[in-house]
Amino acid sequence: MMKKIAISAITALGLSAGAGLAAEGGKVHDVDFSFEGPFGTFDQMQLQRGLKVYTQVCSACHGLKYVPIRTLGNEGGPNLPDDQVRAYAAQNFEVFDEALEDYRPAKPTDHFPESALENSPDLSLMAKARAGFHGPYGTGMAQLFKGMGGPEYIVSLLTGYTGETKTQAGTTLYENTAFPGGWISMAPPLYGEDVEFADGHENTIESQAEDVAAFLMWTAEPKMMARKDAGLTGVIFLTVLTVLLYLTNKRIWKPVKNRNKTG
Ligand code: HEC
Repeated sequence: MMKKIAISAITALGLSAGAGLAAEGGKVHDVDFSFEGPFGTFDQMQLQRGLKVYTQVCSACHGLKYVPIRTLGNEGGPNLPDDQVRAYAAQNFEVFDEALEDYRPAKPTDHFPESALENSPDLSLMAKARAGFHGPYGTGMAQLFKGMGGPEYIVSLLTGYTGETKTQAGTTLYENTAFPGGWISMAPPLYGEDVEFADGHENTIESQAEDVAAFLMWTAEPKMMARKDAGLTGVIFLTVLTVLLYLTNKRIWKPVKNRNKTG
């Protein structure tokens, strides 16, 4: 029995080490996001800027098919007022309506469209699908301290182009220091000043990359704030329960202990 357990433990360790190695080959730099750590929250203004970058740049190729447009109005998310969500849906996307048998402007109840290009992956869950950090042998320590690294990977990818290109089987590949393997078929999407922000916020490549990465973290985990709140409530609850149980325990055993002392 012990031998079996030991073998499976070793296999598990080996597998996680393998996962750590598999993610190597790309350079991912750390970014301090507002949503990291047990008390971190999404920065509403950053999510709104990221939405703009996604809409004006990335949506030309990438879809967000798992994300309902109405969630842009959610608290803890971009928190846009209802009328702005409606206007955003109608102005930016058309969806095929089965009842009308025709295209019509999108409504908040629709989802974002699917990817427009067949070879560009859907981005709804990308920030969680790509972990950027792995501790030694995949122990998860790096994730614990630096966050999961998915959004950092996206920032590193968008800022990691070297400018070198090559053609392989008729496709142009672009050298990228974050992409595993080093060559990606996505042309550099950001050049700096791609999007103008109403409040004049910085729009360098790095800054726009951080904004869109934060937005994609939100699409991948829109309930992160609720999860952290629930976690904190759980910890407080368990702490109080521990203290109460400790005191109750002492009280219950008090007569027995005293008897032993005197007897
Ligand atoms: C011109 C089309 C196009 C645009 C615009 C575009 N992408 Fe891509 N993207 C692609 C293609 C194609 C791939 C697949 C690349 C590959 O696997 O070689 C891709 C892949 C990706 C990946 C996955 C990389 C991986 O690890 O597999 C991410 C993340 C990504 N794009 C993010 C973005 C973001 C964010 C934007 C907007 C700032 C954007 N893309 C704009 C075409 C595009």
